[in-house]
Amino acid sequence: MKNKVLEIRNLHVTFDTPSGPLEAVRGVDLDVAEGELVGVVGESGSGKSVTFLAAMGLLPSMARVTGSVLLEGEQLIGYTPKQMRSVRGRLMSMIFQDPLSALNPVHRIGAQVAEMLQSHQHLTNKQANIRAVELLDIVGIPQPEERARQFPHEFSGGMRQRVVIAIAIANSPKLLIADEPTTALDVTVQAQIFEVIERIQSHFKTAVVLITHDLGVIARFADRVDVMYAGRNVEQGTVDNLFEHPSHPYTRGLLASLPRPGKARLLPIRGFPPNMVAPPTGCAFRTRCDFAEVICEENIPELQPFGDLLTACVRANELPKVWA
Ligand SMILES: Nc1ncnc2c1ncn2[C@@H]1O[C@H](COP(=O)(O)OP(=O)(O)OP(=O)(O)O)[C@@H](O)[C@H]1O
Ligand SMILES: [Mg+2]
Repeated sequence: MKNKVLEIRNLHVTFDTPSGPLEAVRGVDLDVAEGELVGVVGESGSGKSVTFLAAMGLLPSMARVTGSVLLEGEQLIGYTPKQMRSVRGRLMSMIFQDPLSALNPVHRIGAQVAEMLQSHQHLTNKQANIRAVELLDIVGIPQPEERARQFPHEFSGGMRQRVVIAIAIANSPKLLIADEPTTALDVTVQAQIFEVIERIQSHFKTAVVLITHDLGVIARFADRVDVMYAGRNVEQGTVDNLFEHPSHPYTRGLLASLPRPGKARLLPIRGFPPNMVAPPTGCAFRTRCDFAEVICEENIPELQPFGDLLTACVRANELPKVWA
């Protein structure tokens, strides 16, 4: 792998809830290399957001976080809130689905970009304002000079998300994490936002983590995929390998539920995601898996090389080669 920008090892996140400790992330491992776009998929509640909120130091203080998160070799676990503030926006940024809540309604767009620049770089107001307009141009905002003087309510949802991306990349971070950045936008605008992200990735060599439910987006934009289930990685590989011959029954289930030309009907994965206060012993997917055996109840499966993929299934060798 090229230079690793992000290296997550054995990350655990536990929340205390009224029904007991909820282990939302249960030993996540993930690498992201310079200039690489890694797609993270998995059903609702599988721990995608919590994993990266933990890496960003954005979880509520009651969350217990252990393990290792190296960003450019810096160990972030154990950093104070002040140290994390210096990392966020400078070395890594995260964008979310709702751009309006990320922007301040009473400040002009240009000033909000300039503020992010000046919070990490020694720039005069004039320099910051010039750079802010350049950044708005980079993310595809037309007439950036005029638009910089406007307020968030004067922007459409797609344009707001572009502004949020401009703020996120203002200080040329090594890593951009996008958590379902287009869920609130219509389909044509969604594609434009992914194109902006792709442009930034290729132009600035920014590593990108893209969290999405949309496997079509992953197939089109990602280099590698990380599949999460019940707070763990169950399969990782390049987009080509993983879409071509998925090994883990859960990945196969996700792909089988995708609409494809010539396919008569979608095959949803049966059952529901587990309750994370008391997940099944062993492989958490076994309660929904057509191939589960007694051995699957015993140990939590680790990611192991299987063909071109890393797969966390003790029965990977015995599964049918043809899957859908
Ligand atoms: N602040 C919190 N307190 C308690 N439990 C939480 C908290 N945040 C998340 N969780 C729980 O952690 C688990 C993982 O949540 P997470 O938000 O990471 O899921 P996700 O994979 O991002 O899902 P989605 O696709 O719906 O965004 C869920 O069971 C969720 O209810
Ligand atoms: Mg989420």
